[in-house]
Amino acid sequence: MKITVVGAGNVGATCADVIAHKELANEVILVDIKENYAEGKALDIWQTSPVNMYDTRIKGSTNDYSKTANSEVVVITSGLPRKPGMSRDDLISTNAGIVKSVTENIIKHSPNAIIIVVSNPLDVMTYCAYLTARIDAKRVFGMAGILDTARYKAFLAEALNCSPKDIQAVLMGGHGDTMVPLPRYTTVGGIPVTELIAKDKLDAIIERTKKGGGEIVNLLGTSAWYAPGASAAQMVEAIVRDQKRIFPVCAWLQGEYGLKNVYLGVPVKLGKNGIEQIIELKLNAEEKALLNASAKSVKEVMDVLDNMNKAVVK
Ligand code: LAC
Repeated sequence: MKITVVGAGNVGATCADVIAHKELANEVILVDIKENYAEGKALDIWQTSPVNMYDTRIKGSTNDYSKTANSEVVVITSGLPRKPGMSRDDLISTNAGIVKSVTENIIKHSPNAIIIVVSNPLDVMTYCAYLTARIDAKRVFGMAGILDTARYKAFLAEALNCSPKDIQAVLMGGHGDTMVPLPRYTTVGGIPVTELIAKDKLDAIIERTKKGGGEIVNLLGTSAWYAPGASAAQMVEAIVRDQKRIFPVCAWLQGEYGLKNVYLGVPVKLGKNGIEQIIELKLNAEEKALLNASAKSVKEVMDVLDNMNKAVVK
């Protein structure tokens, strides 16, 4: 089993580190465009193997995709991160070019890979990889829902003074301020969360979750990496161990939830074939309206990408 992580920045290196720790593959290839950067990060991570007791071999490469050949899973984290005051959508023109060229290289050397996109703006970069890879959408999807749900669960665990392990939740929509946390589908040790927390407190947690990425950008001056890296690694784990786990994932919708031709966060079953099922929850009118609004806002940015592509074709 071989896994490639493209982008040896904070998110990519963290993801590769978690993958190695969990021994999800025999070999992990870390790729970056910056000379010697992936080699250095990979060497440092590999030197934790005798300490952390794993034998996953991790190697770096400066933009040499022949080293990634025949990877089963590829995680794309390349692109610029946000700076304070930027929305994820502000990154589109730079990151679309990067994600397109990375995807071309990946598919050339690993035509059967499953591709997980982490670059921002997430939903639209996933769409960009899908357009470029020209493979079944079951094998091209994005990581956002696990991260956004993790933030929601972490805030809830803090407010309830309970273990985050006991919180089950699902969150839908785009990876941005229009994301849709679903309190009706949130339980704590099997108990509906609404029985444990006052509505105003829960509403405040939902608002904080929607802006959870921005909160970290404001604190650090750049975007988060521990939780995004670990969340992407959890998707890799579900695939390589064929766990059939159910997570919210940015998936290509073809009529599900009444939405078509849009990449959006929805609950799916993840296993060795990638997205093995898109799960359609019964949403009430209010939840449906929020999901539609989120889809509309993602579509607007997808249109920006489509227009950029048309301009290139001309
Ligand atoms: C975040 C970035 C990675 O949400 O989108 O932290």
